[in-house]
Amino acid sequence: MSNWLVHGNAVLSGTVSAQGSKNAALPVLAAALLVEEPVTLLNCPVIRDTENMLRILESLGCTVTREGNALIVDSRTADRFVLPTVLSGELRSSIFLLGSVLSRFGEADAPYPGGCEIGNRPIDLHLEGLRCLHAEIEEHGGRIRCKGALSGAVVDLDYPSVGATENIMLAACRAKGQTTIRNAACEPEIVDLQNFLCACGFRVRGAGTPSITVDGISHGHGTTYRIMPDRIAAGTYLVGAAITGGDVTVTGMQPGAVDTLLYKLAACGCDVAQTADSVRVRRTGRARGIAFTETRPYPGFPTDLQPQLFSLLSVSDGTSALIENVFESRFRHAQELRRMGAKNRILDRTAIITGVERLHGAQVTAHDLRGGAALVLAALAAEGDTEILRAERIERGYERMDSVIGRLGGSIARKENSIGKEEKTR
Ligand code: EPZ
Repeated sequence: MSNWLVHGNAVLSGTVSAQGSKNAALPVLAAALLVEEPVTLLNCPVIRDTENMLRILESLGCTVTREGNALIVDSRTADRFVLPTVLSGELRSSIFLLGSVLSRFGEADAPYPGGCEIGNRPIDLHLEGLRCLHAEIEEHGGRIRCKGALSGAVVDLDYPSVGATENIMLAACRAKGQTTIRNAACEPEIVDLQNFLCACGFRVRGAGTPSITVDGISHGHGTTYRIMPDRIAAGTYLVGAAITGGDVTVTGMQPGAVDTLLYKLAACGCDVAQTADSVRVRRTGRARGIAFTETRPYPGFPTDLQPQLFSLLSVSDGTSALIENVFESRFRHAQELRRMGAKNRILDRTAIITGVERLHGAQVTAHDLRGGAALVLAALAAEGDTEILRAERIERGYERMDSVIGRLGGSIARKENSIGKEEKTR
């Protein structure tokens, strides 16, 4: 476990480049199993979740090597279809592997996935989708056993689940015949997965729309592919400018990647500006609250930026309502913010936030990845220092956040639990 000491009264200013997208890299890594040739990935983020996924791929027999900032995954040596319990239990996205392992080996055996404490994270849509592709699935003793030769079908998703859409895409690539996924999720990360699959020679089209079609083929081929930038990590640092009254530019962005966030930051009184590949946010006066914000599947306001906006609204003028429509318990950061002097009440999926002038430092806990990031933002803007426990949860999705914040003028010291020695990063 790791604790971070975040120094308050920061004003984040400067320019950073977007890291590679966690939520694009994870399904792409799972897709590497579909081709029996090496794939080379560029811009794959070095974070706990991708490292865990690489360990899982190695446990299945894949060879993983790094050459500079290129990651090479070679699944020619893959020969096992049983996913390891501990690693898969830690990683929600291990469930993506069901589709690709089943497609590659005709069998898959996985534990129920773990992940953030933001809801019960069922996988019924994943399993229903695989059953539509004629997989035989048994759930027994906390494990899922799948087998069978997959053949194409029409899959109607009750909910536009990102993971279920990706899992079915992966299973359909080498299935016999055509698969159509209706009510598919439209997130940009799904478009990135389609682009990777097409670069491997698979026939996938429609990603980014609610209808995705896959024409199954017997084999794909290796490729070199650059993972898209991480819109959520970028958005996090842009909220950092808003909450600390700073001026941050993030480069290496896809056009329009954070439009819904920028709309909200402008409503808070920030100056926002975009070029073809960069976004800038600057705040001068006091931030204004926003009456209503609702999270929705893409292109709605992203649930993965809800905690970060929550922190900003906690120090914005007036009362704001935040409604979390995607996950059933994604407000665990609220109680931690209250320890810092924030005023909020949670009524089921609705947060009522009354902005205060200033938060103060405290000892708080990161209960999940994005909630932990939200606490970092609040701590940077607060009066005094804040200790964040379980900061390893933040490292699941942010590449060296302490160094990025250091480059923007903030300061995060890693506290070593054992002897309490501080290692300052700049
Ligand atoms: C992906 O999770 C992302 N993770 C999440 O990011 C993101 O918040 C989420 O999509 C929504 O955008 C990765 O891509 C690795 P869902 P996923 O399936 O696939 C319900 C982060 O912080 N549901 O779209 O798990 C589910 O309970 C993480 O980077 C079912 O009911 O999200 C939830 O309420 C957090 N049955 C809703 O759908 C299922 O079979 C959305 O889940 C699957 C999901």
